[in-house]
Amino acid sequence: MATSQAGSRGARRRRRERERREQAARRAETLRWWTRPGVLVFAVAVALAAAGWALVIGASRRIPVEEATVDGLHLRLEDARWILDQMDHGENFQKPSTMMPGMPEWGKQRVTLELAFENRSPQPQVFDGRELMLVPELGEEVPPMGAQTGKAVIAPGQTFNTAVHFDFDTTLPHGKLRVAWRRGERPIYLPIPEPAEHYHLRPRGGEVSLPPDARLLLPIGKPERGERLFKGVYGCIACHGDPQVPDSNNVGPHLGRIAVTAATRIDGLPAAQYVYESIIEPNAFIAPECKGGQPCAEPSAMPEYASLVDLQDVADLVAYLLQLDG
Ligand code: HEC
Repeated sequence: MATSQAGSRGARRRRRERERREQAARRAETLRWWTRPGVLVFAVAVALAAAGWALVIGASRRIPVEEATVDGLHLRLEDARWILDQMDHGENFQKPSTMMPGMPEWGKQRVTLELAFENRSPQPQVFDGRELMLVPELGEEVPPMGAQTGKAVIAPGQTFNTAVHFDFDTTLPHGKLRVAWRRGERPIYLPIPEPAEHYHLRPRGGEVSLPPDARLLLPIGKPERGERLFKGVYGCIACHGDPQVPDSNNVGPHLGRIAVTAATRIDGLPAAQYVYESIIEPNAFIAPECKGGQPCAEPSAMPEYASLVDLQDVADLVAYLLQLDG
């Protein structure tokens, strides 16, 4: 009895001993869980995600927004548009001339922003036009034009509407364009649309009397309208035939491949410039091949359209001819 008791006591001690060892092993195991590869990968992933998120938040401050509030002054971008020139026939910005401080210098384009500032704070707020700047990714910042750069006091609850203009030479390398509102610690960026594609041209003769070295910005051309003008009112089709139909030409050269050949006519003269000048002043350059590959007669049989077309029409004709891939 005594021995069996001692024996069972020994067995119990051994069991307890074993349990304690197992427990210690389990605890050691639990302590080392984080050294497991899966756990490490997970931890690294979490750290990277956190870093990425911080970057996103940092970058989001530089992503343009259409609305923002700084110190109780709420700014909403109502509209942002490029205007091209006085000859503009729709599509682009139309403003009473009283609201336009002059027109952009030749060679520059104007982007106009319509802004609404709402004072959401209990105190009057002063908005200073100089808080706004056109900020190109490359190149110099541009301050706003004239009158709009003044100050305005906005009473609590009031909204102040204004238009701000920036004149910018869009031919310079500029990267992304944004307008910065520098009021708080960090600037808020407003988005502006990409400037429209346009041709820079030297005007020659015609109704546009400008210094000969002035660069002229042609409004955005609409190819479909250009086609209608070509085949309709201006009767270009009578001499040139249908550019889409080979050999349909009469006195003038077939224009199906003009998008390609125009760039090769005069050294250094871009295709758009060549087509523009061909219409405005046909005798400036005589095309090499007319009907049936015959040399074109000199002086040109083509009428001078300078006094007949306006800028939008020329732009549309140029756009039409340059998108032909015949
Ligand atoms: C009365 C006939 C006639 C009419 C109408 C006419 N052209 Fe021409 N066009 C010619 C002739 C001839 C030439 C070739 C001589 C020259 O270069 O001026 C020519 C040349 C051109 C060229 C240069 C072609 C090249 O291969 O280099 C273009 C572009 C052009 N015309 C566009 C037009 C457009 C656009 C219209 C309508 C707005 C028009 N023409 C109306 C007769 C005409």
